[in-house]
Amino acid sequence: MRVLLTGGAGYIGSHTAVELINAGHTPVIADNYSNSCPEVLNRIKEITGVEVEAHEIDMCDAEKVDKLFATGAFDAVIHFAGLKAVGESVSIPVQYYRNNIDSTLVLLDAMTKYGVANLIFSSSATVYGNPERLPLTEDCATGGCTNPYGWTKYMIEQIIRDAAKANPNLSAVLLRYFNPVGAHASGRIGEDPSGIPNNLMPFISQVAVGRRTHLSIFGNDYNTPDGTGVRDYIHVVDLARGHVASLPYCASHKGSVEINLGTGTGYSVKEMAEAFARVNDIPVPYQYAPRRPGDIDACYADPVKAKELLGWEAQLGLEEMCRDTWNWQKNNPNGYKGAN
Ligand code: WQD
Repeated sequence: MRVLLTGGAGYIGSHTAVELINAGHTPVIADNYSNSCPEVLNRIKEITGVEVEAHEIDMCDAEKVDKLFATGAFDAVIHFAGLKAVGESVSIPVQYYRNNIDSTLVLLDAMTKYGVANLIFSSSATVYGNPERLPLTEDCATGGCTNPYGWTKYMIEQIIRDAAKANPNLSAVLLRYFNPVGAHASGRIGEDPSGIPNNLMPFISQVAVGRRTHLSIFGNDYNTPDGTGVRDYIHVVDLARGHVASLPYCASHKGSVEINLGTGTGYSVKEMAEAFARVNDIPVPYQYAPRRPGDIDACYADPVKAKELLGWEAQLGLEEMCRDTWNWQKNNPNGYKGAN
């Protein structure tokens, strides 16, 4: 299949491009590089031997998106493009709503105009807000998001559901990611956050490489076995394969469906820091700090629906998550900047 990846140069998009190529598909990347780097295209080529077609495009630019769709037929679109920093979304909410929602509307218009029927959307477990129950099944209540970023995912899901109801040709899979971590085993592509990382794993790896003195563990009085927050961390290569597995399902169904992509296992912050240190044999000093506003005690998936509908389940464990994160970080201490 010829598959358009909006935001395809980003962390999850780039890993998905590699797995699509491995599975015999042809990804086409559209990215404005606002939070990614064209160097990723060289790295994808190194890993796969394939030069990916890439277009520098802001997905909110309807004219350019139209031209992109006119370049040739897409069998499916995987829509990763979007602003994703939780804290920043609280400071500049209007930009978040405008960017994430406008780009989706532009995309849906272009898909309708050019008769592209299959859409896979990069949603998030953040749509569940404070979980109604654990593990989270797809029919758990959504809403109650604690930040504008989360609300954009919630609203876009609804927009896509409505579009699929109105257009009997449209098929949409809404993938709700839990906590993506890790990197490609080659160490050539990985997560490259700008500034001080908000997410746990990039922070831990920057402590390990010496860019930060210690990890602050936000809260040790949560209602969890060791008092620190519990999340469902999923290896980004597993996550990428979840997209590949969604393609045939999407192409053989109509309407929209929500699917969790998680492992079903929760680990605490303390367990993650200690596992990283153990697996990589490197110290990860940490200190307890106050809770971070908006954080919840625990969040992990029921992954059964993904297995039933897509035939997909996570294969990689905590060891690979820690090993591959470190392999990427130590070989690219400054991310793609100053790349070799
Ligand atoms: C995990 C745990 C923190 C950093 C967020 C978004 C979600 C998403 C993924 C994105 C929590 C603790 C973290 C640190 C810490 N989607 N922590 N010290 O909050 O589960 O999810 O990222 O694009 O929408 O909300 O992930 O990695 O930020 O935090 O103690 O320096 O690690 O409190 O318990 P989170 P996270």
